[in-house]
Amino acid sequence: MDIVYYGDPVLRQVAEPINEIDDEVRALADGMVRALTLKKGVGLAAPQVGVSRRLIVVDLEAEDYFEIVVNPEILKTSDEMVEGNEGCLSIPGSEAEVMRHETIWVRGTTLDNETFEFEAADWLARVFQHEIDHLNGKLFIDHIDEAKRLQVLKEFERVKREEKAEV
Ligand code: NI
Repeated sequence: MDIVYYGDPVLRQVAEPINEIDDEVRALADGMVRALTLKKGVGLAAPQVGVSRRLIVVDLEAEDYFEIVVNPEILKTSDEMVEGNEGCLSIPGSEAEVMRHETIWVRGTTLDNETFEFEAADWLARVFQHEIDHLNGKLFIDHIDEAKRLQVLKEFERVKREEKAEV
């Protein structure tokens, strides 16, 4: 599965909820896990492989956390905000400091159709906010100021040119 880049309209769509966990959803999850592992990323949302459905994969080795989450939603957020470095596989090239809620409460469903709720803090909370943003057509560059956004997009254009040159 190829990663879809910034500029593709699918990244700006609000993704559809998944009503049934069938073979198609499982195959989508498999493909996403492979794509994420290949790119050594920490999180991936289905729109990033061109599928506008509410499915994310989070793989945070540092926190020993791996989960495929169907229909993830943020139930509650802490008032406290923290700044941290973020990048995105759909806008490769550079990273930026982004403000996120320090702690969030998440509800989601596993591929075995079990619904769970949990509290995430720090890095894990950041990754979940970033990936759930993707399901709502939002990107990390929407959270940063104009000057920084232009810088990130300039680096992204450079990466795209380099990739084209390699082909
Ligand atoms: Ni992203």
